[in-house]
Amino acid sequence: MSLHWSLWIMFLVVLNLGITLFLFLWGTRVSIPTREDGTTGHVWAHGTLREGVRQLPRWWYLMSAGTFIVGIGYLVLYPGFGAYDGLLDWSSRGQLERAEERNQALLAPLLEKARNGAPSDLAADAEAVRLGGRLFQDNCAACHGRDARGNTTIGAPDLLDDAWVYGGDEKAILASIRTGREGVMPGWEFLGYGRVKNLAHYVSSLSGAPHRPTAAEVGKKRFDACAGCHGPDGSGNPAIGAPDLSDDAWLYGGELDQIMTSISQGRHGQMPAWKGRLDEAEIRLVAAWMLANGK
Ligand code: HEC
Ligand code: HEC
Repeated sequence: MSLHWSLWIMFLVVLNLGITLFLFLWGTRVSIPTREDGTTGHVWAHGTLREGVRQLPRWWYLMSAGTFIVGIGYLVLYPGFGAYDGLLDWSSRGQLERAEERNQALLAPLLEKARNGAPSDLAADAEAVRLGGRLFQDNCAACHGRDARGNTTIGAPDLLDDAWVYGGDEKAILASIRTGREGVMPGWEFLGYGRVKNLAHYVSSLSGAPHRPTAAEVGKKRFDACAGCHGPDGSGNPAIGAPDLSDDAWLYGGELDQIMTSISQGRHGQMPAWKGRLDEAEIRLVAAWMLANGK
C-alpha cells in the first residue's frame, strides 16, 4: 500500500472513530431541557403522545463502550490501520500459508506412496482414490465431463468404459496423461457426399449399428483407404490413436451424420500434456481414480 493510501485510510479511521466516540461521550453528559412534568414539551396527536426524557439503560452504555474497546484493540493487534501490520503480525496470506503447510504435511505420506505406487494398487486405497477424484474434477472434468463419460463435441473419450484409443493398461494411461495425445484424422470431403455417406454406412455396419446394407456394401470397397490407420477390420491402431470403429464407443458420436462429419471434415483431438502441471504422484492418483471407477 502506498504511503498516500495508508495516510488516507488512517485519517478516515481516526475521523470516524473520533466522531462516534465524541457523540458517545457527549451523549452521556448532555442534559436535555425539560418541563416541570419531565417531558420535552413536544406533543403529537393533540397531546396524546408526549416526548419524555429517559436515561439510556446501563447495558447499552457498557455494550457501546465494549465495542469501542474491541474496535480499537482490533486495530492495535491486527492489520486495518493503514499500512500498520498490527502487534500480532497476522495476515490472511500468512494464515493461508500455514494452512497449506499443515495440508502438505498431512498429504505427504500419501503423495510419497503415490509417487512410486502402481495406479492399480493405489486404486484399492480409498484415500488415494478420493484425492485422485478431486484432481480429476479440477483438471480433467472440463473436457472429459464431471462423470468422465466424455464429450463428443471435442472428441474427449469416455475414460470409464473399456474402450481405449491409446490402450488401457497402466503404462498407456500414464503416458496419455503425462505427455498428452494428438489424434489426426484427415478429411475425405473430396470423395463427395455420396461416397462419404456409403463409407459412413459401412462404418456403422462394423459395430452392428443401424445402416443400409446396400450402401455399406458399396462403402466397404473404399475402406482400403482407411485400413492403413484403422486396420482392415476397422479395429483401430493404438499406436497412432486411430479408434476402433467396430465397437460402440465413439469419440465424436456414432450417429450417421456424426460419422459422416468425422469422415468428410477429418478430426483432430488434442489431449494436453500434464507433466509439469501435475507432479508424478498426482498423475498416478488420477489414473488410480480412473481405474477404481472404470470397467
Ligand atoms: C482440453 C481438453 C482435455 C483435458 C483438460 C483433458 N483431456 Fe484427456 N483427452 C482429451 C482429448 C480430446 C483426448 C483424445 C485425444 C485424441 O483423440 O488423440 C483425450 C484423451 C485422454 C486419454 C486417452 C484415452 C484413451 O482412450 O486412450 C486419457 C487417459 C486422458 N485423456 C486422461 C485425461 C486426464 C486424466 C486428464 C486430467 C489430468 C485429462 N485427460 C484432461 C482432452 C482433454
Ligand atoms: C492417417 C490415418 C487415418 C486415416 C487414413 C483415416 N483415419 Fe479415421 N481416424 C484417425 C484418427 C487418428 C482418428 C481419431 C481422431 C481424433 O482423435 O480426433 C480417426 C477418427 C475417425 C472417426 C471418428 C471415430 C469416433 O470414435 O468418433 C471415424 C468415423 C473415422 N476416423 C473413419 C475413417 C474412415 C471412414 C476413413 C477412410 C476414409 C478414415 N477414418 C481414414 C486416423 C485415420
